[in-house]
Amino acid sequence: MTQKLEKFVDSLPILNTIKPIRKRNNKAYFEVRMEEFTQKMHRDLEPTRLWGYNSQYPGPMFDVQKGEPIEVKWINNLPNKHLLPLDESIVHHEPEVRTVTHLHGSETRPESDGYPEAWFTKDFKQVGPFFKREVYQYPNRQRAATLWYHDHAMGITRLNVYAGLVGMYIIRDQEERRLKLPSGDYEVPLILSDRSFNEDGSLFYPSQPNNPSRNLPNPTIVPFFLGDTILVNGKVWPYIEVEPRKYRFRVLNTSNTRGYQLYLDSGQSFYQIGTDGGLLPSTVKLDKLAMEPAERADLIIDFSKHEGKSIILKNDLGPNADSNDETFDVMQFRVTKPLSAEDNSKIPNRLSIIPSLKTNMVAGYRNLKLVESKDPLGRPMPLLNNKKWEDPVTEKPRLGTTEIWSFINTMPVTHPIHIHLIQFQILDRRPFDLDLYNKTRQIRYLGPAKQPAPNERGLKDTVAAPAGEVTRVIVRFGPYTGQYVWHCHILEHEDHDMMRPYVVRE
Ligand code: C2O
Ligand code: CU
Ligand code: CU
Repeated sequence: MTQKLEKFVDSLPILNTIKPIRKRNNKAYFEVRMEEFTQKMHRDLEPTRLWGYNSQYPGPMFDVQKGEPIEVKWINNLPNKHLLPLDESIVHHEPEVRTVTHLHGSETRPESDGYPEAWFTKDFKQVGPFFKREVYQYPNRQRAATLWYHDHAMGITRLNVYAGLVGMYIIRDQEERRLKLPSGDYEVPLILSDRSFNEDGSLFYPSQPNNPSRNLPNPTIVPFFLGDTILVNGKVWPYIEVEPRKYRFRVLNTSNTRGYQLYLDSGQSFYQIGTDGGLLPSTVKLDKLAMEPAERADLIIDFSKHEGKSIILKNDLGPNADSNDETFDVMQFRVTKPLSAEDNSKIPNRLSIIPSLKTNMVAGYRNLKLVESKDPLGRPMPLLNNKKWEDPVTEKPRLGTTEIWSFINTMPVTHPIHIHLIQFQILDRRPFDLDLYNKTRQIRYLGPAKQPAPNERGLKDTVAAPAGEVTRVIVRFGPYTGQYVWHCHILEHEDHDMMRPYVVRE
């Protein structure tokens, strides 16, 4: 779709940090406007019309301290017409331009979590059934971690996020500061995404014609979307000039569907120090890193032995890749800057202590099947436990209790499963006979359960649930009660009912 674009011609944009407007209730108070704007995504592309927080893509970065709560007013200042092609019937059912912001990975009360039906329109003229609060409260009581905020409006998240409504949110703390990790100019967020462009520079997103016979709130089914270019911090295939020393990269996958298999073409290893919920127990040396949508990886790359070299961050597309597919490249590091000062940063072996949830008493076990159902037109529709969004709430853990959730993936693709409010631990994954399941609906295990990889042994809020495996996570529900959601983070799935409400009860 996109014209052929030369790689590594634009320098990597460095994200700017948002400043509070004032103090309110003794907390730093921020305002963020969602607006339409244009931005140059590549040297040879016409400027692209986007939607973004404070007119930038990615949005401004929040950089906050643990223990310092903040308030944010999210303001929808978008035009009345959607940027991307959408189905007429959405307009009949709900306002075409509706937004609500979710802070992914955060421990937030339900009123501030960005519940999909807590959407609102411009100037809050119209609000969804769950809308409770104009100013969101972020307590920042959790440990240091790389979080991100993004749109979560019911049925239209894939389009709002694709239009550009994403940003990073970093929480820092004392435990992490003590480690002397690379910091300042040597700590660089890398927000990955994929997009396709039309010839005039506008975003390309497929649409399907409305079928009037179908009375569903959202008949546009795009079961997945893969863009043909890779962007980092809003530029297509950028480069960054670095010094011959260690850098910390906070990598976040904001793609609608695309998972990545990252590696460096220099053949060098890199180090993972953190994951969704902050630091890992110990540093993990890696040659390749898998990242599903919404996952974060805190990495250290050491360029000290590569002075003068160019190193490409690659994406392994596997043996069946299409020969026209250019998404095997992500970005380029040029080790061309002189070393400005001695590198005193560390790659500590021990990073943090994460108490295992396995010692908790388990109050409940839930078998949650990821299943392919059919919509009324016979098209495939992935669901959770065969339930649609509107079906009554079935997952109601009690506050403070620990449960084990088993995601039984009976579909032929990996689904990244995300639970709001909490950070969980991955217990194991166990393969079963998918063919047999398809014929008989019986689960027959093919072998013993596999332990999670070393870089998954931290706190996670999103887990890859591979095809034909039972992925088990252990979760302690809290610290708040109320209604949240859990869902597949492939946004085309989430928007089409692979999302369920859940309630943490008193
Ligand atoms: Cu990243 Cu429910 O979201
Ligand atoms: Cu979330
Ligand atoms: Cu999915």
